[in-house]
Amino acid sequence: MNNFTSAKDVKNVEELVKEAIVFKNNPLSFSHLGKNKTIGLLFLNPSLRTRLSSQKAAQLLGMNVMVMNMDKEGWALEWNDGAVMDGNKTEHIKDAAMVLSSYFDMIGIRCFPSLTDREADYSEHVISQLIRYSTVPVISLESATLHPLQSLADCITIFERRRNKNPKIVLTWAPHVKTLPQAVSNSFAQWMQALGMNLTITHPEGYGLAPQFTSGAVIEHSQQKALQDADFVYVKNWSAYEPYGQTPAVKENWLLDEKKMQVTNNGLIMHCLPVRRNVELPDELLDGPRSLIHLQAENRLYSAAIVMKKMLEAKPL
Ligand code: CP
Repeated sequence: MNNFTSAKDVKNVEELVKEAIVFKNNPLSFSHLGKNKTIGLLFLNPSLRTRLSSQKAAQLLGMNVMVMNMDKEGWALEWNDGAVMDGNKTEHIKDAAMVLSSYFDMIGIRCFPSLTDREADYSEHVISQLIRYSTVPVISLESATLHPLQSLADCITIFERRRNKNPKIVLTWAPHVKTLPQAVSNSFAQWMQALGMNLTITHPEGYGLAPQFTSGAVIEHSQQKALQDADFVYVKNWSAYEPYGQTPAVKENWLLDEKKMQVTNNGLIMHCLPVRRNVELPDELLDGPRSLIHLQAENRLYSAAIVMKKMLEAKPL
C-alpha cells in the first residue's frame, strides 16, 4: 500500500519530478503497465483539470477509468465511525471503501474542506477515513489542506523553466470574490521546501498560512519587497487560517500588474487555474510571454501519470 496525499508520501521529491519529465518525453512508452487495471476517480467537488488530466494520465498508462461525481450521483456518505445513521447520510465510508476496493486497483478522491471546522479539515478526516477503510492505494485529487498533484505539476514546471539552480520563488496572496481553501498554497509551500527551494511567501496581515507548511520560508508582508528579484511568482488567493475560513478586509491593492513585476528578475507567472481574470491576475500578465499557467495545467498530465505509474509498478513513491 502506498498512498499519495502529500510531499511526505514521496521518498525523493527531486527524483520524482525528474522521472515525470522523462515520462513527459516518452508518454506512450508505458501503455502496457495498466492493462486490465482500473482506477476509480471520486469527486465530491467540481473540477476541470484534475478530473480530465487524471483520466488522460490513466489512459496513457493503458488503464480503465471510472469517474463518479459522488456529490451528485452517489449516496450521501457518513464519514464518522460509530454514527447512528438516522439522518440524511445513507452509506458509511467503511462499506463504500470496501466495495470500491473490490472494483478498483487504485482510487482517487477530491474532497475540499468545510472551512468551518479547522480541526476536522486539518486532520484530513475525509481522505484519512477513505485510506483507513480502503485496501487499495488512494491518490489525493485535492484534499482539505493539500493538493499534491498540482504541486508536483508546479515542480515539473519550475524544473523545466528555471534559469538557475536556485531560483527565488515567491508565493503571493491575491484578491478574490469567494472564500477559498488554503490547500494549493499549503501544498506549494510544502513541495518547495521538500525541494529545498528559496521560497518567500507574501500576504496581507491576517492571512498567514498554517505554520506546519510555512516554517523555513521567508514571510514578507510587503508584496513589493517580496517581489524583488523573483524568478517565479506563484499567485493564489486563500482564506485565513486564523480565524479559520474568514476573509478579513484588505485595504492595500494586492492585484499584480506589469509595473509591480518590474522589480522581479523577469519573473515567470504561475497560477493553478481556474483563475478569475482581472480579479486575481490581470489579462496583461495571464496572456503575456512570462505566463506559465497553461504549461502548469499541461503538466498535470505528467504529475498524475508518474504517480499512477509508480503505483502500478508497486514501487515506493
Ligand atoms: N488546478 C485544479 O486543480 O484545477 P481543477 O479544480 O479544475 O481540477
